[in-house]
Amino acid sequence: ATSALIDPFGRKIDYLRISVTDRCDFRCTYCMDEEVTFLPRDHILSLEEIVRVAKTFIALGTKRIRITGGEPLVRKNILWAMEQIANTEGLEELTITTNGSQLYKMAQNLLNVGVSRINISLDTLKPDRFYALTRRDKFQQVIDGIDAVTQRPFKRIKLNSVMLKNHNDDELFDLAQFALDRKMDISFIEEMPLGIISDHNRAATYLSSDDVIETLSQHYQLSTSQMITSGPTRYYHVAGYENRIGVISPHSHNFCDTCNRVRLTAEGRLLLCLGNEHSKDLKSIIRNTNPHSATLESAIIDALALKPQQHHFNLDEAPQILRFMSATGG
Ligand code: GTP
Ligand code: 5AD
Ligand code: SF4
Repeated sequence: ATSALIDPFGRKIDYLRISVTDRCDFRCTYCMDEEVTFLPRDHILSLEEIVRVAKTFIALGTKRIRITGGEPLVRKNILWAMEQIANTEGLEELTITTNGSQLYKMAQNLLNVGVSRINISLDTLKPDRFYALTRRDKFQQVIDGIDAVTQRPFKRIKLNSVMLKNHNDDELFDLAQFALDRKMDISFIEEMPLGIISDHNRAATYLSSDDVIETLSQHYQLSTSQMITSGPTRYYHVAGYENRIGVISPHSHNFCDTCNRVRLTAEGRLLLCLGNEHSKDLKSIIRNTNPHSATLESAIIDALALKPQQHHFNLDEAPQILRFMSATGG
């Protein structure tokens, strides 16, 4: 099917991010507090319901689906759902964003069920600092996971590093070199103000992508990559390497005019933009209507009218979005 999903600003929406759980085995300091209350089980879509929404989106022209969380790989039987989605006619790629903690044992399974690309969060290469940032002692487990996926024929592996001034910006070069040496791409991310987190002042740790690129330019010869991407990353070609360094700059370089995506939250809300609350509750539709009716299709098509033109993140104000990143999957 050609895409039936066009938003009011003429953007073609052919990419869906599905958060399959709000739970996570880490507690990254910029994402959650140590004490968190996760959603009760019956508030979360079942795997069958997730597959049904995914198939409906694919029928409406969705070409790419990314599985996110929380940490998607802690959801029981998630591989079953991923296989159902990957095998649906019309889908071009199934990808996943993970904190890497389960990859040491799940790398081959992910390949088998049809995942083509994996994005792995890694903000530091120092075990002590890893513990400080994630509040979990799983650095080596993540590194073993990265080894497990880079040894297998995935189409592409990318690292994501959220950059926090005076916390990990001294590792810019080390992280980049770690990725390039293992034939991975890497994105350096400006932190977004989602949810209020105690003892974490986002304005104080803000580091702009321009500063990131300036620092990296002291080590590498960078040139703007012509690579066409489906997402917010702006890539740079690195002389002497085949992989790329990218930046995701929600604050300094707004990318909303080329947005191609919507999100399904773990509780079955279709969220039209990461930086707004415009949403449509698909769970009640799934649970209260005949599965053979076209109600879900029309609800999705109608919901696109709610997609805002852009986000309005502002680090100088209290966070406007109280929802946490882990409920949305980034
Ligand atoms: P692709 O599927 O290749 O586009 O990957 P990606 O880099 O977009 O996805 P990933 O899950 O690795 O997310 C990396 C970062 O980009 C996270 O911090 C996300 O929150 C952020 N991100 C992804 N899409 C959007 C978006 O539409 N708006 C904003 N503001 N941030 C986004
Ligand atoms: N701002 C930007 N990126 C974030 N991530 C988690 N919280 C935030 C935030 N507030 C990153 C994770 C992961 C990706 C899905 O989003 O580190 O790489
Ligand atoms: Fe978990 Fe990702 Fe949030 Fe870290 S950023 S606590 S890995 S959901």
